[in-house]
Amino acid sequence: MTKRAGIIGWPVSHSLSPVLHGYWLEELGIDGEYTRLAARPDEFAATVARARSEGFAGLNVTVPHKEAAYKLARPRDAAAEICGAVNLLVFGDKGPQGRNTDYIGMQESLAESLGENALKGKTVLLLGAGGAARAAILALHELGVAQIHVLNRSQARAESLSNDMALKVKPRLVPGPLTGWASLAGTAGLLLNTTSAGMIGNDELVLDLSLLPREAAVCDIVYNPLETGLLKNAAKRGHRIIDGLGMLMHQAVPSFEAFFGVKPKVTPGLRAALVQDLHAR
Ligand code: ATR
Repeated sequence: MTKRAGIIGWPVSHSLSPVLHGYWLEELGIDGEYTRLAARPDEFAATVARARSEGFAGLNVTVPHKEAAYKLARPRDAAAEICGAVNLLVFGDKGPQGRNTDYIGMQESLAESLGENALKGKTVLLLGAGGAARAAILALHELGVAQIHVLNRSQARAESLSNDMALKVKPRLVPGPLTGWASLAGTAGLLLNTTSAGMIGNDELVLDLSLLPREAAVCDIVYNPLETGLLKNAAKRGHRIIDGLGMLMHQAVPSFEAFFGVKPKVTPGLRAALVQDLHAR
């Protein structure tokens, strides 16, 4: 019987996940199907229930449903509890289990690009205070980072996120306004953008990167465009850059394994397929 899974979101037509999972299904010769389920917020619970009754193994969850998925899921894994967000629902006998694999995506992407121990004891400047920032903080905790400056346009949001996560992770969390970045830039081992600025159709972040130490890496979770203004600028100045595709590919590994029972590999071929899809849009 064909195994089924998918991604639920609103909008969801832009999602690269079907390309990603479709690539692995074909590569591994698995009889499976991965589809997009468009659901407005008021349709979320009913759409999840319908997918479950139709025999789906589970669903990935994207914007704006990650918090609704958190509320719906039982039990939830530790990462989901810490992040307050679920991006993977696995349908068991008792109901939808909730997991968070976004942080694994960020952790693996950074470790793959910089090395497993590269960020141990370092200071990170984290831009943003939404759900993606929470997953990033958990990833940085796993990578042994000592201190994270959580800088956000709305400082109040940076403060409430830092207060909320301070006791759950090891790195020291220091909240501040986005404008505070200039005076902190010289301390950074990594500049990590988790805001949606720089995404196609949004404003770019305008930062004076001359303040950043040359050995600092710059990572953006945005992958459309693949090279954001921030990354372009950083590359020009000789910084090591990490784009958003790494996180996207690596968060999908545990999802695919949960749905289809095989752990897939992140390869240059997969990346090429995603880049090709992005360019064809
Ligand atoms: P996600 O869950 O994907 O992180 P979110 O909760 O909507 O999404 O958060 C988006 C983040 O991008 C927020 O940190 C937001 O800042 P505010 O909290 O001040 O709104 C940030 N953001 C979005 N557009 C931005 C822009 N043009 N400049 C700076 N920050 C921006």
